Amino acid sequence: MRFKIGRVELEIVRGDITTQGTEAIVNAANSSLMGGGGVDGAIHRAGGPKIKDECAKIRNESWPDGLPAGKAVITSGGNLKADFVIHTVGPVWRGGNSGEGRVLENCYRNCLELADGEGIGSMSFPSISTGAYGYPVCEAGRIAVRTVIEYVSSKETHLEKIRFVLYSEPDLKTYEAISEKELGRRL
Ligand code: APR
Repeated sequence: MRFKIGRVELEIVRGDITTQGTEAIVNAANSSLMGGGGVDGAIHRAGGPKIKDECAKIRNESWPDGLPAGKAVITSGGNLKADFVIHTVGPVWRGGNSGEGRVLENCYRNCLELADGEGIGSMSFPSISTGAYGYPVCEAGRIAVRTVIEYVSSKETHLEKIRFVLYSEPDLKTYEAISEKELGRRL
């Protein structure tokens, strides 16, 4: 499903984040930046050791105690099609009264800002925090879509294409429904 937000095209697709041909893909990392399961494991497996080496350098130079939730850092794409991987740490769901929504919003906004800072024209997001971190997809999807809309509508951005890549049919349908509600007419 595709939408337009001003000049920017928003795509909602089902697939594997590691195979996306956008300039950047976003990793749902953990604070260690040393890999894990889910998206994180898939990206490190497909991207190869170069990504982890760059993450280790970032840890040593900038985040010795780990990347805090909500922050984002950027590495090359290693062996991936994507030129860049933007690593962000989502909030762990604790019931919704511990500021998880704000942290998730920060993840999306910081990834968008990092991409813009590099002059990146296209990027793909997974559904951050809705796997191991347990964030309800409906609520997380609403934050994801609204943060992208608010960012693109309020800034001069280099981005021309933003893609949400969902791994399951139910998650795809949830994001499509949210996007239709928030953006109305689709392309
Ligand atoms: N491509 C796209 N989406 C994927 C893929 C993939 N290859 N693999 C999993 N997903 C989906 C999951 O189904 C879920 O909807 O991405 C979403 C996020 O799930 P996780 O990868 O578990 O990420 P998150 O919930 O943010 O938890 C992060 O899990 O893998 C560890 O190191 C990671 O500790 C961190 C935690």
